[in-house]
Amino acid sequence: MSFLNIAQSRYATKKYDSSKKIDDETIDKLKEILRLSPSSVNSQPWRFTFIANEDIKSRLSEFSFNNKNKVLDASHIVVFSVVKDVKTFENIKLTQLPDHTTAYYNRVLKPGGDEHVMTWLIAQVYLSLGFFLSAAASLGIDSTPMEGIDTNGYDSILQDDDYKTLFAVTIGYRDKEDKNQPSLTPKFRMDKDDVIRSI
Ligand SMILES: Cc1cc2nc3c(=O)[nH]c(=O)nc-3n(C[C@H](O)[C@H](O)[C@H](O)COP(=O)(O)O)c2cc1C
Repeated sequence: MSFLNIAQSRYATKKYDSSKKIDDETIDKLKEILRLSPSSVNSQPWRFTFIANEDIKSRLSEFSFNNKNKVLDASHIVVFSVVKDVKTFENIKLTQLPDHTTAYYNRVLKPGGDEHVMTWLIAQVYLSLGFFLSAAASLGIDSTPMEGIDTNGYDSILQDDDYKTLFAVTIGYRDKEDKNQPSLTPKFRMDKDDVIRSI
């Protein structure tokens, strides 16, 4: 499928077929694709937690507001996390990067202060989301990005000391009745003239 076809056909899945599970080989591909996500100065300030365990999914579903049934019915949930603070980034990520990256970070980013650096780190994780949604669709996997979750509740379950949850993505196979699929509800996007400018 061409990338344009993927853009036209992927959609935020609202209802999953709970009887269908993604095979391990495909999950391994998705893990490797996330590991290969691009980021500014190759900072990679993220962690991606894949969950298939039904007990953990059920506990996470209680912190998932309107997304509860997606978490319960999807094959897997992937939680996207960022390093919990700037100090942690500097200690566990920056130390793995080349000297010229550290020099750039200290000269350009750090003087902006912790809030500025955290905003920049979080932006990198969102970039991996776009990469992931497209990659999943290219493998025939349906998905739902979800900011509508209680991230503190997720953290209380995931217990990952150095990272905090930003958002999650359910992945699996659509229920064939899912009304949000483009064949039943055409995609809404703003006009090309509104969003694209050619000068
Ligand atoms: C960062 C982000 C967070 C989102 N959070 C939710 C969510 O919590 N629940 C949900 O059903 N859809 C969520 N969506 C899906 C969007 O509403 C959807 O992508 C948008 O309406 C465009 O529709 P499409 O993805 O079907 O083309 C989210 C999308 C993004 C990119």
